[in-house]
Amino acid sequence: MNKIVEVLPDKQALIARSLEVVVAKIQGAIQERSRCTIALAGGGTPKPLYEAIASQQLPWEQIHVFWGDERYVSPEHPDSNQGMARKAWLDQVALPAANIHPMPTDGTTPAADAQKHGAQLQEFFGTKVGEFPSFDIILLGIGDDAHTASLFPHTEALQVEDQLVTVGNKDGQPRITFTAPLINHAHCVLFLVAGVNKQPALAQIFAPEADSLTYPARLIQPQGELWWLLDESAGQQLKS
Ligand code: 6PG
Repeated sequence: MNKIVEVLPDKQALIARSLEVVVAKIQGAIQERSRCTIALAGGGTPKPLYEAIASQQLPWEQIHVFWGDERYVSPEHPDSNQGMARKAWLDQVALPAANIHPMPTDGTTPAADAQKHGAQLQEFFGTKVGEFPSFDIILLGIGDDAHTASLFPHTEALQVEDQLVTVGNKDGQPRITFTAPLINHAHCVLFLVAGVNKQPALAQIFAPEADSLTYPARLIQPQGELWWLLDESAGQQLKS
């Protein structure tokens, strides 16, 4: 694993740097593999990044967009990660509809939809059951509780090692989420973290010793590149 940590002066600089890195990774993937597969984070932090990507000149037909996790709501719901990214980015560019691969949230149960999306990913990447595909880029955030994607502290999702996608649980609310092994197979994982409220979680995530079940973002140790892009408020105590 190649780990890069950058602390930017403020949120605006964080978004500008994230745009640089993400665009470079998209272009690199397309050069190497003639396409880019990118899984998006939800929540509030990445929204300005998605808005900024929408103004880039990119070969949209070679870019495939997925989500690393999703609230169990319809795309029209205000909490939908899919809905947020469509409004901020995907609806603003000529990215083919077939290149957008949302997590299903309209099935019989969250477990059935998680299973269905796992099968959809296997089919897209041409991998067999038991194999983990490698996304080019997986964007992630962290919560104040050091969760990432929808891998929340002390939940069953943290123990799932043999599936690509599983059911997350946030205070009893179901989520659909990539598993830690799927995230760890990515070529590049990029955390975007802003705000002083994230400092305690970052301290535990970066500590030499801490419990991964309590601080799930510690589970993310990808075989490829691991980027932590932080604003000063979040990352000041990490500056070497
Ligand atoms: C989600 C996200 C989640 C998010 C963190 C940080 O569905 O909410 O995927 O993991 O990245 O909760 O959220 P903020 O960026 O809003 O702080």
